[in-house]
Amino acid sequence: MESPTNPTLRVVDFKKVATLAKEHKLLSMIDATFGTPINQHPAQFGIDLIMHSGTKYLAGHTDLICGVVAARHELIERIWETRTTLGNCMDPHASWMLVRGLKTLAVRVARQNENAQRVAEFLAEHAKVRSVHYPFLKNHPQYAVAREQMSGGGGMVSFEVEGTGEDARKVSESMRLFTLAPSLGGVESLVSIPVLTSHAMVPAAERAKMGATEQMIRLSVGIENADDLIADLEHALQAVAAPQHVQVG
Ligand SMILES: Cc1ncc(COP(=O)(O)O)c(C=O)c1O
Repeated sequence: MESPTNPTLRVVDFKKVATLAKEHKLLSMIDATFGTPINQHPAQFGIDLIMHSGTKYLAGHTDLICGVVAARHELIERIWETRTTLGNCMDPHASWMLVRGLKTLAVRVARQNENAQRVAEFLAEHAKVRSVHYPFLKNHPQYAVAREQMSGGGGMVSFEVEGTGEDARKVSESMRLFTLAPSLGGVESLVSIPVLTSHAMVPAAERAKMGATEQMIRLSVGIENADDLIADLEHALQAVAAPQHVQVG
């Protein structure tokens, strides 16, 4: 599983998945990148393998590529052996940068939680925004589960503009502080349109099922001043075409 999910920010109930996996003698695995090890601890709920794209929050500065997996010793040993045989190993400089990034993980994530919460609340009130997806917004469909298994809502927010896919593209291109780029989790805020980037290869029917629409914009909220980020969004949302008024009679 993945939780929260990319790009729809749905939350999967860890306890339910762990119970189901145990019943069927399966290993449970999570891509926990969006949640970070600061905001959630899937192992405490019985999840067996926890994976992160370390490229994102763990490193935190969008300047290296790595993956991380955590699990009980006997599981890690098997992964370790395969990895050693295949020779997939980080270079020393990237490893050093990752360790340096980890030293500020907790403070970065705390700030990203605060900023993203403010951004989500701002967007939720905006007339040109149809919907906002953020685990710690009270109207999130899994708000109760999110509160139970997460200590912060994270830095990722997605929303749909009240308009067309073309409007969403214009908004993303009008931002000045949020850089239009497909990665996430770094100190600088990024914006992307999932259907044009991360989910471009996913068939339209599958995208529709998961709720990734053409109007959806994904934000990776960084550690900048929250007022500046909100001002940037306010400015960019002006690019959404005003609703057409049809004259009758
Ligand atoms: C949730 C999630 N998991 C995994 C990955 C893959 O990470 P990497 O780029 O480190 O291979 C990404 C990155 O795009 C991601 O967003």
